[in-house]
Amino acid sequence: MSSRTWAIVTGAAGGMGAAFTRALAKRGYPVLAVARSAESLATVANEIRKSGAFVETLAADLASAAGVAAVVEKAHSLGDIELLVNNAGLSTSGHFLEQSPDREIQSIRVNVEALYTLTRRIVPGMVERKHGGILNIASIVAFQAVPYWTTYAATKAFVLAFGEGLSYELRGSGVRVVTVCPGFTRTGLYADSGVPGLAGRFLPFATPEEVVRAALAAYDSGRVVRVVGLANRALAFSSALTPRFILRWLMARMFAPIAAARSQPGSMRR
Ligand SMILES: NC(=O)c1ccc[n+]([C@@H]2O[C@H](COP(=O)([O-])OP(=O)(O)OC[C@H]3O[C@@H](n4cnc5c(N)ncnc54)[C@H](OP(=O)(O)O)[C@@H]3O)[C@@H](O)[C@H]2O)c1
Repeated sequence: MSSRTWAIVTGAAGGMGAAFTRALAKRGYPVLAVARSAESLATVANEIRKSGAFVETLAADLASAAGVAAVVEKAHSLGDIELLVNNAGLSTSGHFLEQSPDREIQSIRVNVEALYTLTRRIVPGMVERKHGGILNIASIVAFQAVPYWTTYAATKAFVLAFGEGLSYELRGSGVRVVTVCPGFTRTGLYADSGVPGLAGRFLPFATPEEVVRAALAAYDSGRVVRVVGLANRALAFSSALTPRFILRWLMARMFAPIAAARSQPGSMRR
């Protein structure tokens, strides 16, 4: 086993998490790859091990307290953690009242609660060593409310505000906190929820590798927030300049299920 300090990647069974695991292993980190599917984790890990890199896997459900505790326990048993990538996430989309409350609660547990707990339990060791970092994966939807993606956008707004606040509190500690906001990316995220509304048709899609390159470059240069892609940066910037009641209306037009978007009454209530 390598004596180097570890990286932990959650949601490493596919999509961006698998790409993070590959990229960090290539950088020489021993990586702990976490997700629910032991089989998919093994596929990712076996492929990486062929290049001589060191990857351990842990099958854990981050929607459960026991799953999060298992990751914390494993992290503490590994020794020094240099980098925690809070990447695991899931989304629901469509009318709020048509969503499964169980799945939405699961998304809040994974996107928010697990990210909070892992950060809270792993950062103290980094602060003690005066070295390390957290990469939190938020989303472009974190910058405003998004009707029909209401719960998902709210979880990502937490990730963005939490990461920004924490990065400020930890300035000068030697621990970096970087929040990455990708736009649409070609992964399995939409396998269950579908790609939402007109936005999914017209906004550009990145590859997971492009997002990971941008995220690690942001980490290297000590950025606090990194919106990935030019079009997404323009969107985030214009969100900041647009009155919230207009923004809500616009987002509803863009993210409503296609049939609902056509029948939108188009009201802009303050
Ligand atoms: N794709 C996009 O367009 C996009 C855009 C902006 C932000 N993001 C964010 O990027 C991150 C990565 O998503 P992705 O696009 O790569 O999606 P993905 O391909 O669906 O990957 C999600 C990962 O999270 C894991 N996961 C899901 N539920 C889990 C649970 N309960 N416990 C542990 N692991 C769990 C999945 O593995 P298992 O199913 O095996 O557990 C999988 O490895 C997410 O935070 C997502 O919100 C994605």
